[in-house]
Amino acid sequence: MWTAVKSSQKSLYDPPFNPTRQELSMVQINPIQKHHLEDAAALVVHRYKKLCLVEPLLPDRYKHISNILPHLQSMYNAGSPGVVATHNGKLVGFFMSWMMEEFRGKKSTYSPEWANAAKLEDSKLIYQEMYQTLAAKWVAEGYIAHYITLFANDSAAITACHWLGYGMFSIDAIRGMQPVPHKGTPVDIRLANSKNLKDIVALNQGLRDYMLGSPSFFIADELLESYLQDWIDDPQKDIWLAYSEDEPVAFFRIGPANQDVSLIIIDEKTTSIYGAFTKETKRGKHIAASLLAKTIEIGQSNGYQRCAVDFESMNTLGSRFWLRHFNPVCYSLVRYIDDRVVVKK
Ligand SMILES: CC(C)(COP(=O)(O)OP(=O)(O)OC[C@H]1O[C@@H](n2cnc3c(N)ncnc32)[C@H](O)[C@@H]1OP(=O)(O)O)[C@@H](O)C(=O)NCCC(=O)NCCS
Repeated sequence: MWTAVKSSQKSLYDPPFNPTRQELSMVQINPIQKHHLEDAAALVVHRYKKLCLVEPLLPDRYKHISNILPHLQSMYNAGSPGVVATHNGKLVGFFMSWMMEEFRGKKSTYSPEWANAAKLEDSKLIYQEMYQTLAAKWVAEGYIAHYITLFANDSAAITACHWLGYGMFSIDAIRGMQPVPHKGTPVDIRLANSKNLKDIVALNQGLRDYMLGSPSFFIADELLESYLQDWIDDPQKDIWLAYSEDEPVAFFRIGPANQDVSLIIIDEKTTSIYGAFTKETKRGKHIAASLLAKTIEIGQSNGYQRCAVDFESMNTLGSRFWLRHFNPVCYSLVRYIDDRVVVKK
C-alpha cells in the first residue's frame, strides 16, 4: 500500500530553512506602527491574489486593499501588539494578533489570515523571525496559546510554524456549485420544519458527543431548541434531514457565509455548511453525499457561487468526507506553551 522510501531518497519532510548570517541580517523586525498598515494590507492582497490563482472560486473583494485595511486598523486601534519585517526599509512581512483573555480555557492570541503576511519566497525566515519577537511579549504577559490562520498555498510559512511547534487544528475549504457526484439517494431527504425539532436536537447531540470523543476532543456548541427553531424560520437558512424507513439518520445545517471562520470565505455569494452528522450505524452509505448534493443543488438555484465548510483536522471522519468534495483555502494552527514557563516568570 505504501511506497517504500528508497535509502538514497532525500528526507520526505521539508527541512527547516537554514539562513546564512547575511540572509538573517537582511530582515529587521520592529514594532508595527500606524503608517505600516497600508503596506501590510497591500502584502495581504498580493498574497491573496496568488491564492486566487490556485483557487479562482474565492471572492474577488479581498483583492482590494480597501477590504483588508479596515480590519488591520481596528486590530491596531485595539492596541494589539504586532511586528513588521523590513528589508532595505521595505515591508516584507507583518504579524498582528487579537489578544484573548480566555479562549478555550487559556489566555490566547489569534492572528487571522488577513493579520499576518510575508513575501511568499522568504516566508519561512520572515515568519520565524517575527514569531520569535512577538512570542516573547505574549508569553511574558501569560498568553500561552498561540493561534494563527495561514493561506493554504503558503507551504513555507506552514512549515516554519510546524518547526516552531505549531500543529494543525482547523481547515476552511470551499467548492463550486457543480453537481455532487454520488451513487443515488439511499434515503428520503426532507427539509426540516418545526415538527422535526426533537430529531434535530438528538442528531446535533450525536454530533457533539462524537466531537467530544477521540480523536477530536472538541467541545461543540450546544444548540438550544429556540436557536434551531429560529434557524428553521429564517428563509436564508435550512436544515436538511435524511430519513431511512422513517428514522432520522443524518442532517446538514446550512445558511449564508459563516461569519465565525476565515474572512476570505465571507461573501454574499457564499453559502456555508454549519453542521453535518450521520448516525454511526448508517455511515459510509453515501447519505452525507446525498445531503451535500441537495445542499449544492438548492444553493445553486438560490444564486450562490461557492459553498464553504470548516472542520477540525483531527476529525478523521469529517476531514475524509470534506476533502473528497472541497479544497482547503486556509489552515489554522495552534501552539501551546508549557504553562510552567509562565509560572516561573
Ligand atoms: C462525516 C460524515 C457526516 C459523513 O457521513 P456519511 O453518511 O458516512 O458520508 P458518505 O457515506 O456520503 O461518505 C463517506 C465516505 O467514506 C466511505 N466509507 C466507507 N465505509 C465507511 C464507514 N464504515 N464509515 C464511514 N465512511 C465510510 C464512504 O464510502 C464514502 O466514500 P466515497 O464518497 O468515496 O464513497 C459522518 O462520517 C459523520 O457523521 N461523522 C461524525 C460527525 C462529523 O464528523 N461531522 C462533520 C463535522 S465537521
